[in-house]
Amino acid sequence: MTVTIVGAQLGDEGKGALVDRWGGPADVVVRFQGGDNAGHTVVHDDEEYKLSLVPSGAVRGKTGVLGNGCVVNPRTLFSEVDTLDERGLEPDVRVARRAHVILPYHRVLDGAEEGEKEDEGLEAGTTGRGIGPTYEDKAGRRGVRVGDLLNPSVLRDRLEYVVPRTRRLAESVYGMDLDAATAPDLPVDLADAFDVEWLHDEFVDYGRRLREESMTVDCGDYLAERRAAGDRVLFEGAQGASLDIDHGGYPYVTSSNPTAGGAAVGTGLGPGVAGRGEVVGIVKAYLSKVGAGPMPTELDGPLAGQIRERGGEFGTVTGRPRRIGWLDLPMLRHAARASGFTGVAVNHLDVLADLDDLRVATAYDVDGGRVETPPATAERWAACDPVYRDVEPWPDVDWSAVEAYDDLPAAARDYLEVVGDAVDAPVYAVGVGPGREATVELTDPWSG
Ligand code: IMP
Repeated sequence: MTVTIVGAQLGDEGKGALVDRWGGPADVVVRFQGGDNAGHTVVHDDEEYKLSLVPSGAVRGKTGVLGNGCVVNPRTLFSEVDTLDERGLEPDVRVARRAHVILPYHRVLDGAEEGEKEDEGLEAGTTGRGIGPTYEDKAGRRGVRVGDLLNPSVLRDRLEYVVPRTRRLAESVYGMDLDAATAPDLPVDLADAFDVEWLHDEFVDYGRRLREESMTVDCGDYLAERRAAGDRVLFEGAQGASLDIDHGGYPYVTSSNPTAGGAAVGTGLGPGVAGRGEVVGIVKAYLSKVGAGPMPTELDGPLAGQIRERGGEFGTVTGRPRRIGWLDLPMLRHAARASGFTGVAVNHLDVLADLDDLRVATAYDVDGGRVETPPATAERWAACDPVYRDVEPWPDVDWSAVEAYDDLPAAARDYLEVVGDAVDAPVYAVGVGPGREATVELTDPWSG
């Protein structure tokens, strides 16, 4: 039995609260895609931990695994592990030897490409962590994998091929002067970021530490053994379905597969493992988006401002205000099909309380026709006019007193039904406040 938790929209749906809750009975929490672009806050024993890479279960004494589908920045990894160590947690973190490594030059290229795209209004608004360029090198068969860090001579061979090529790219395509320029967001000198010797020294050290602390695993074998021993595995998705490189609003996407299929490819366990378990889509009661890209239900003006303020919809790292929109059912249908939701959790219901009007988009009109799921191209998706259904707003109540489904205002329960019908799956949990405890659970996915 496994539980897979994935974002149903555009990231920031509040997955962390459910991963915390349902990670409780799990023995192993596995991330299967993405890297340190996924900021999450974990509260444990009244202490707050901010993580972007290490699976949150590691804070709670579980084994946290970074699967082969992840891209790993060792500097972030060890800084998070050290912080947890200093706070007395001794986290058990394992990293797939097949996972790819984010090198400093990936971050430089991420920023350079976004800068170029900005001139054309095409930037994805990336987190700047080097995610895209690392997956590019993976697909281009020139990446460095975690397993390569364990073997200094293999690492040297890899770097000797890829670094000069990457230098040429930075200098010729992006016109960078690597010896003169500084990179404000880079924790190392720009010249070092493109220097084979410096990189080799630095990353051999990471490899040594990974080996000394027995942190690397063959992910598929390791997870299969844990399962054979009777351990429970929770797959923790990052980002959301509409940011999926295949199923999202390409090119305004991340470079991995946050949909549930990623849990198979990104861990080395067959699709039946996650597929026979529970797949819970996490839904925010409205939309929020970081970065550019289609968003047919986008709101502006005071209403967007009100929801943004109430929901605290500002980027965790940059503080940038997030774009806000009405709940988009075509987007949810698409996510539910792509991931095969067996249930959903709907978060931030309290944020929508007491509005004068409340709407959800049930379909789109585009090119003279009506569609029920988003078109495959961003341009056509952006041309969609939402078909709205007015739904009854619910009053503001003392949300801290809401402990059971029946305590919810009737109109809020109707709203949940609309969501459940659209995704053809039951609502397992409802988030009614920013705190982790502010969750009303209807079904525990582990009980199935
Ligand atoms: P990247 O993953 O840094 O390459 O960014 C690609 C796109 O995914 C950008 O629009 C980011 O804002 C978005 N993105 C990446 N991670 C997250 C996340 O954790 N929450 C919300 N959006 C994200």
